[in-house]
This record gives sequence, C-alpha cells and structure tokens, in this order.
Amino acid sequence: MAERVVLAYSGGLDTSVGIGWLKDATGKDVVALAIDVGQEGEDMEVIRQRALDCGAVEAVVIDARDEFANDYLMPALKANALYQKRYPLVSALSRPLIAKHLASTAIALGADSVAHGCTGKGNDQVRFEAAVAALAPDLISLAPVRDFALTRDKAIVYAAEHNLPIVQSKKSPYSIDQNVWGRAVETGFLEDPWNAPIEDLYTYSQDPAIPREATEVTITFTEGIPTAIDGKPVTPLEAVVQLNRLAGDQGIGRIDIVEDRLVGIKSREVYESPAGLTLIAAHEELENLTIERDLARYKRGVESKWSELVYDGLWFSGLKRSLDVFIDDTQRYVSGEVRLELHAGKATVTGRKSEQSLYDFDLATYDTGDTFDQSQAKGFIEIWSLPSKISARRDHAAGGSIEA
Ligand code: ARG
Repeated sequence: MAERVVLAYSGGLDTSVGIGWLKDATGKDVVALAIDVGQEGEDMEVIRQRALDCGAVEAVVIDARDEFANDYLMPALKANALYQKRYPLVSALSRPLIAKHLASTAIALGADSVAHGCTGKGNDQVRFEAAVAALAPDLISLAPVRDFALTRDKAIVYAAEHNLPIVQSKKSPYSIDQNVWGRAVETGFLEDPWNAPIEDLYTYSQDPAIPREATEVTITFTEGIPTAIDGKPVTPLEAVVQLNRLAGDQGIGRIDIVEDRLVGIKSREVYESPAGLTLIAAHEELENLTIERDLARYKRGVESKWSELVYDGLWFSGLKRSLDVFIDDTQRYVSGEVRLELHAGKATVTGRKSEQSLYDFDLATYDTGDTFDQSQAKGFIEIWSLPSKISARRDHAAGGSIEA
C-alpha cells in the first residue's frame, strides 16, 4: 500500500489541484481533511465530495466549531488578543487547530506526512508546520504550492487538463480566509495600500454608513468567558455567532491595516471581525472594573506578547502555555455584565457591573459621603516624589537642569 499524506483541504483551487500534484510528486495517496471552523457560506459536504472528485482516496470533514470557540477563541478573548493592537488573529487562531487535526488524523490513518496549500510568502505556512512540529515531530510537512512552485496559472491549466470540478468562473481577485472569528481579505487592488477598501470586500458586516437605529446588547461574562447575551445563556460559539450578526449588522469589526508578517514582508490586510472586536471591547472593560491596577497594567504587556506568539505560529510553545496559566489566573473575578451600544461601525460600552467589582462609589465620589481621606494624599506624594527630588538636587548641583 502506498504511503499516505493528509492534506488540509479548503475546497479552493490550490488545495484541489494540490491533491493531484502531491500524488504525482510523491506517489503518496492523498487523504483530504476539511475542518469546519465556521467559515460562512461554505457547504462542507460539497467540499468533501469535491476532494474525492479531485482524486483524494479519502475525504474527512470535522466539525470543529465548538472546539475552535472553546479552546482557541476564548483564550484569545481572555488575552484581549490584537496583533499590532488591531488584528484579532482571525487566521492565526485557526491554524493550530487545523494542524492539530492534521496531525491526529495522520497518526490515526498511519500517514507519514501532512500537507497544506500555503505559499512561501505568508505566515500560515509557518503556523501549520511549527504546530505540526510541536505536536508530532516525526511527521513530514509538505507544501505543494510552495515547494513544487505551483502558481495560480499552472493550477488553472492543471485543473482544466485533468477535468477537475473547480468552478473558476467567478474569479475572485482576492485571497480570502474565513472562520467564525472573522474574515481576512488580501491581494487584488488592495496591494496598493493607498487604495481604499470597497464595500464589495465585506460579507460579515454591513456598510456602517447606512443610517439605522442603534442596537443595545448586554453581555454576561463568567470568569472572562461570555455566558449570556441579553440574559439568555449561550455557549462560546453561540455568543460569537450571535454577536457576528448583531454587530455585523451595524457595520462593526472592519479593520484595514498594514501588517508586519513573520517572514519580514509588510502586507496590506483587510479584515472583518464583528463579534471579535465587540467581545474584546466588552471583556477589556469588565477587566477594568474587576482587576486590580498593577495586575491589569502588567497583563496588557502579557497580552501583546501572547498575540505576537500566536501570530508567529508558536501556539504550541512553552512560553505561550505558561502565559495562558497567568492569563487564566487573572480571570478569576472577571464576571459580570457589560452593556454596549452597537451603532455606525462602533461598539461602545455604556455600562458595566459586577459582584466582584473593585469600583467603590464612596471612594470615587466627589459628593458628600466621600470616604477617601484626602489629607493622606499630601504625605503620599511627598514620599512618592522623594527620589525625583533628591536626584534633581544632584542634577542642579552638577550644572544640569531639566528642560522646564
Ligand atoms: N495576514 C493574516 C495572517 O497572517 C491573514 C492571512 C490570511 N490568509 C489567507 N490565505 N488569505 O493572519
């Protein structure tokens, strides 16, 4: 029996042609693995059949939507994960999950290799292969598009010659990756970073400029995780799906950014992540209410490191694992409710409350009933500024002075 390779199959041109290419180049039988991560508007059964029609010896579909939400999106939410402060890691979060299923399917079927359809210019190749290396170090990773120089033109010719059932009629100029956390759109006219995005690019969000009534929504969190929307209990996946609709209908979640890829290229990316940005805004504000100052400040630094690790393909790494333990511990009191107004492309927090709140009205108020003893502030500032005062005296004695 021929050796087997398990290919992460999306149903698109590259991975469809990749089935034949892998077989031709390696002699291995190709098993196609399609993972449902909540990509909107794609029928997984059609994709499965297409893999078989393109020559896969076996085609497997795994519904990983709940696993994706529970084990990948929720850690990202607890980390308020935004790469370069803006990108909610849409594609970066799905890669380790897909890689995990690639590795476990390969091991279960006795395959010696896995494969993906990434080019050699992006982050996703790194994420797939670094994750597979960390999970199953003996598996071989193959990348037909990259390693066999499979260009788009060659792929189209190959598909035609072999009568592959790929519909290339509505040729989209964009490279799109999507899952329930959002969509990533690149290439086409967007490659000129001066070109403004057009309405056509978006499917998860409506045009924010269209006048419409605001939507009010209340999200309940339990230890950092959304557990109810407007009082109705939800699973993490349901929370994301519902907020994609509520926030997406208000044009929320669009991101247009020049991004620093791990491979050194700067690229122009357009994203939409209605639920992602709404949940992060709400969660971060609940943290402001429930996490003490020094922990909150320190955590913001950890969040940025966490986001870079995940962006850079190090989901299954020691540092990321240890940061997760820290982040989980910070969520102990992040329970309560956040009310948001969703309107005109913006999710604005308008209220927050928690039984674990650290907000003390009597301390904060400027009205009567104030329990904060202001006379203590004077001595505090005296001691707080003592190091500055002493060093300033030395600076002046040495002839230096601060620009003032
Ligand atoms: N640049 C983004 C990232 O690295 C998105 C990649 C999207 N992939 C794609 N094939 N369009 O996470």
